[in-house]
Amino acid sequence: MSTFDKDLSSFDDYYENEKSTDDLEQELILAAADADARNHEHKSNHEVETTPEIEPSYEQEYGSGSKLKRSLSPDNDVERVTRLKTNEGEIIERPSEGYGKIIATHYNTLEEKGLHERSKSRIFYLRNFHNWIKSMLINEYLTKIKDGKRHNSPIHVLDMGCGKGGDLLKWRKGGITHLICNDIADVSLDQCKSRYYDMKNRNGRDRNSSFIYTIETIAADFTKVRLRKKYKDPSIKLDLVSCQFAFHYGFESLTQAECTMHNAAECLQPGGFFIGTILDSNDLIARIRKSGANIFGNGIFKVEFECDINKPPLFGGKYHFNLDGVVDCPEFLVHFSTLIKLAKKYGLKLVRTEKFYDFYQRMHVDGQQLMGNMKGLETFPPYPNTSLVGTDEDDYTHAEEFLKNEGQNRNANAKVGTLSKSEWEASSLYVTFVFEKMKNTWATDGTPIYQF
Ligand SMILES: C[S@@+](CC[C@H](N)C(=O)[O-])C[C@H]1O[C@@H](n2cnc3c(N)ncnc32)[C@H](O)[C@@H]1O
Repeated sequence: MSTFDKDLSSFDDYYENEKSTDDLEQELILAAADADARNHEHKSNHEVETTPEIEPSYEQEYGSGSKLKRSLSPDNDVERVTRLKTNEGEIIERPSEGYGKIIATHYNTLEEKGLHERSKSRIFYLRNFHNWIKSMLINEYLTKIKDGKRHNSPIHVLDMGCGKGGDLLKWRKGGITHLICNDIADVSLDQCKSRYYDMKNRNGRDRNSSFIYTIETIAADFTKVRLRKKYKDPSIKLDLVSCQFAFHYGFESLTQAECTMHNAAECLQPGGFFIGTILDSNDLIARIRKSGANIFGNGIFKVEFECDINKPPLFGGKYHFNLDGVVDCPEFLVHFSTLIKLAKKYGLKLVRTEKFYDFYQRMHVDGQQLMGNMKGLETFPPYPNTSLVGTDEDDYTHAEEFLKNEGQNRNANAKVGTLSKSEWEASSLYVTFVFEKMKNTWATDGTPIYQF
């Protein structure tokens, strides 16, 4: 039974049987050794060429304090393997420095679509719905942070993989004081910066102008670079770290996942939160196995696996996710139990994870007005002279059914806000996650002992 199988059958056991940090490291060493063994298995069927490390490794960057790091074979990481020749003679290129450059280039060259163009998109509502989820999640945890502070205390936030600044307005509405924007794609980050200054200048011209937070931007790979070293003030205490639709890039290798978690946790103050949105890997694996192929999806999304779906690796489980042509670069499975264990090592305790639909169910009453403003759901049946975005035959049968069942209590012209079935199918692949930073004392050797 692979670890993913175990996850699928007993996902909750991991939370109930809390383990010590030593156990955690031990388990990760075993997991890494397992991945290693599979690498060797793989290699025995392939000719392998390797090149020496070019980039400084995580260990060089962070020092060699971790037992875990010392126990890892470098074959488990991305730096060594560069080209594999399969039995069929096909050469699989694997960049020696990992996929960072490919990912950065992908996002840097992604065409920015205007409002008009976006409103015609097949995933217009899905995109808005996901934006609503982010808004509600950010707002929920900023509210908790503010409730625990004295009025007008500063709020410091790190946005890892901030992209073009899609969340800048959310930070403004949340009344934060300072934002650190990080992304691997420098072109996206420049766009983020100019969006911020546009917002700031508009505010300056407004008679009723309000305080706008300050920003700093860091173009760096959060899976390889210690972000703290790049902060204007490396002693900054963060209240919130957000990583929206980007955290899965950290699971390319164990070394990179550790660096990502370290970046998320290092400057968070006790009681601060690390929040994010990712694809649910258990669900991905379950659906791909059910499909009986290495690709599944529908008219609006497609997931294509490039790893063994029967024995998915804990790190580097590569797939391509294409959402109406919006994203199509390598992504990596986030093995959730491993994530929880890694998080624990850095003093982060899981607070909650929710499928998007469950999040929606919990929040839709509070977020009803915002949902309307953001056009996060489509009106069914449509208003006269408007058409529905979904064109599949059964795209709205759930909405028809709902209105039929509710029929006795509603008038004949009742309408409902929904997404097409194809969009729900895509949206239901995502989860939110929330971790909280624990308090710590210090061991005599200077390492933190977290109070879980
Ligand atoms: C799907 S976009 C999400 C952008 C933004 N968080 C949002 O919700 O609109 C993913 C972002 O993660 C960034 N990213 C991917 N890998 C990264 C890495 N290793 N370090 C920093 N940013 C990364 C990409 O450049 C891209 O901007």
